[in-house]
Amino acid sequence: MNLQNDRFIKACLGEATDRTPIWLMRQAGRYLPEYNATRAKAGSFLALAKNPTLATEVTLQPLDRYPLDAAILFSDILTIPDAMGLGLSFEAGEGPRFSKPLRTEADVAKLRVADLSQLQYVFDAVSEIRRALIQGSSQRVPLIGFSGSPWTLACYMVEGSGSDDFRTTKTMLYQRPDLMQKILDVNIQSVTAYLNAQVDAGAQALMLFDTWGGLLPDGWYQKTSLLAMQKVIAGLRREKDGQRIPILVFTKGGGIWLKDIAQCGADVIGLDWTYSLARARQELVQNKATVALQGNFDPLALFGTPDQITLEARRILDDLSQSPVIKPGLHALDGHVFNLGHGISQFTNPEHVTALVETVQKHSQILRTQ
Ligand code: CP3
Repeated sequence: MNLQNDRFIKACLGEATDRTPIWLMRQAGRYLPEYNATRAKAGSFLALAKNPTLATEVTLQPLDRYPLDAAILFSDILTIPDAMGLGLSFEAGEGPRFSKPLRTEADVAKLRVADLSQLQYVFDAVSEIRRALIQGSSQRVPLIGFSGSPWTLACYMVEGSGSDDFRTTKTMLYQRPDLMQKILDVNIQSVTAYLNAQVDAGAQALMLFDTWGGLLPDGWYQKTSLLAMQKVIAGLRREKDGQRIPILVFTKGGGIWLKDIAQCGADVIGLDWTYSLARARQELVQNKATVALQGNFDPLALFGTPDQITLEARRILDDLSQSPVIKPGLHALDGHVFNLGHGISQFTNPEHVTALVETVQKHSQILRTQ
């Protein structure tokens, strides 16, 4: 099946495109009234995520509203610990909770690699979304599959919920590094098998969300979260039907570790808004790293006026276009996927997203012809 729009895949693999591709982390979500309507129909967020037909419906909603360059599977990173039997629930307005978090040696001893048959609904959603993306004889845009990183999953599995400082998790890390390592090992195996099964079901790129890697001290990050992601990546399928499957790694707060992350085997490094693309590109090129970049637009900059959003998006593109290229013959803007520096806020005005997408598409094309 040919892709009508392969800009996202090309940018991930460091190939030239006519303009910069854009998609948004959490592009299917509560800022869209149509998402809220489907979620109400499902009854709850988890019921929505576990229903492949409704998950397909919400995956396509942002693509029908905006000319985005990629679809992302509608699911959650917490499906893996849910399948491990930790008892996941989402209280309205409160975020995730596990009724059986991992606190003791006995809890960890009982932990087993996730049974993929418990996650069949995810693979069914991937296949159904792939079918729904077909238009005529080709596919509109590629589909991204994803997982939480082993460390970020461990944070929720030990803490039992979100947290300001993940104190319980870090207590285990420092007091019982052996227990934490056991959890990470189980997560590495689970995440690897889960992502490979998403590829088998039809995912065309894979992203690791390492939301809490940035909580770790320098040194601990590399030997804990990054090493675990490197082990996952080493076990992933990199090709399907003759197409390379790009791997994207996003450590929130990870800009300072860019050069280390560039060695982990990923094709693309995601950046939040604390580290500019221009600075990142400069450092990577100095280190002869040809890895692509994703992200960087502050999601809360979408709370500015449409004119301010336009200026902010242009600033990011203008800065990168003055930076070194990753390979001879490319434009400085090649090898970048425009995205937010973290998930879109539920309070975002959907019309402001239109301003962002239009600006990126127009301006990134103009800069390439100059
Ligand atoms: O990007 C997409 O559109 C795909 C869907 C997606 C969701 N979660 C849907 C979701 C993805 C890629 C995620 C990843 C995820 N989930 C992460 C990593 C990225 C990040 O944001 O840091 C994390 C840490 C989670 C865990 C999680 N899921 C939390 C902490 C919460 C509650 C907080 C919140 O934003 O409400 C969720 C719930 C969740 N996952 C929602 C959505 C659309 C909102 C739930 C709802 O509709 O009530």
